[in-house]
Amino acid sequence: MAKNIAVIGTGYVGLVSSVGLSDFGNYVTGVDVNPEIVEKLNRGVPTIYELGLEDYLKRNLESGRLTFTTDIDTAIQQAEIVFLAVGTPQSESGEADLSQVEQVVGSIARNLNGFKVVVCKSTVPVGTNRWVKRRLEELSGKSANQPDPAFAVVSNPEFLREGKAVQDFFHPDRLVLGYEAPKAREYMEDVYRVLNLIHVPIVWCGLETAELIKYASNAFLATKITFINQMAVLAEAAGADIHVIARSMGMDGRISPKFLHPGPGYGGSCFPKDTHALVSTGASYGVEMSLVREVIAANRQMKAHVVDRLLKMTGGPGSLQGKVVAVLGLAFKAETDDVRESPAITIVQRLLEEGATVQTHDPEALANFKALFGDTLQYHEHEFDAIKGADVLLIVTEWNEYRNLDLERAKNEMRGNVIMDARNVLEPEKARSLGFNYRGIGR
Ligand code: UDX
Ligand code: UDX
Repeated sequence: MAKNIAVIGTGYVGLVSSVGLSDFGNYVTGVDVNPEIVEKLNRGVPTIYELGLEDYLKRNLESGRLTFTTDIDTAIQQAEIVFLAVGTPQSESGEADLSQVEQVVGSIARNLNGFKVVVCKSTVPVGTNRWVKRRLEELSGKSANQPDPAFAVVSNPEFLREGKAVQDFFHPDRLVLGYEAPKAREYMEDVYRVLNLIHVPIVWCGLETAELIKYASNAFLATKITFINQMAVLAEAAGADIHVIARSMGMDGRISPKFLHPGPGYGGSCFPKDTHALVSTGASYGVEMSLVREVIAANRQMKAHVVDRLLKMTGGPGSLQGKVVAVLGLAFKAETDDVRESPAITIVQRLLEEGATVQTHDPEALANFKALFGDTLQYHEHEFDAIKGADVLLIVTEWNEYRNLDLERAKNEMRGNVIMDARNVLEPEKARSLGFNYRGIGR
């Protein structure tokens, strides 16, 4: 039956999980250290941009099953299940920074007033769940071992994609639940019972297996993207069309057409962090994850390739000096306001170094990008204010509105005629028929 749940951390994962778990009929208290976040959420105002989130947030607040607080102690005391969804950002050394996890573990140890399942949802290096179990035993003086455990630890990595997080929460391809205590399995079956109705497969496994599934999945997806990006560079050189290559590769059931879209390189808060963490994890076990290491290097190279190719179009090194470049798209991908590790950051830095004047547009991410670049750039709410007077048009994020860009109007309002389409959202023939010097990626 329904469970009393505390979700610690209300970032992209924590907030969607709080709302989703309460929609499943559980009683959920979301916890954050930031009082402004808590106040806004209790008013039904989402603190992140996710399609559909606001409706679910409001509905579950009204149902009385969902609330938010900064009082982590009370939330844990009242909970039967505590989800950790705090950030595990990448530290300088490449490892995941677990300081937020450690803080929360301390809070839990102080409030073990009855059997609780501690569920780690943040992506954490292999071995962290076992470390959480040991640390809780040390700090609380209680045991998690059979036959009568004072608590249990469960690894429940999430596979939410930003921009589709609500959809992914309610219709996951699978649930991964790493556990040891049978009682923990019963609790988690109750929490996710609703998903049985739509036959979502559940992978029951050990703690380390569950942790590695997450890294393996993300690193594989990052590898797949990097592969098609490198094939795109070869296709450009060989005069082949990467879209036809990708489409026919995808017809092979073993490959699937997903994640074969060439672009400026992957970004976001996960792939860059998780690939680095996986290489670090390998090193800690004496295993050289050379393939993943190469993916990291190749992805960095892809962002440089976009500007290198643009320079070739405008006349070689130094040819962007004094030029006006309109950058369309700043978020690391469409349908999100998130600019974490966005390729646009590296690309814009390079344009500024080349002496270009940069005029930017993005439907959602302008404010987040401005927080990074301040007044070294221009930020426009309407794409044609960014395009006006530009020598170069550079498309970096695949927002749908750019797919139907009015090229006739762009031709009239630009000063130059160069288009570098790093997401292949435009039709090359149409652009060239209007007299643009157009380049895509791999076409
Ligand atoms: C996080 C991890 O970064 C990612 O690796 C994993 O896949 C999912 O969880 P995200 O939800 O985006 O991703 O984290 P973030 O956006 O950094 O949000 C963390 C939230 O936890 C913030 O709102 C922060 O204020 C809050 N927090 C931090 C706490 O409530 N308690 C703390 O002790 C520390
Ligand atoms: C990813 C995983 O998909 C998700 O399962 C995990 O929980 C978190 O990390 P996310 O980072 O939100 O999700 O975005 P995703 O849609 O996977 O895209 C990641 C990056 O790859 C983006 O920069 C995107 O532009 C890029 N990408 C994706 C491509 O360049 N080509 C593709 O075909 C797909």
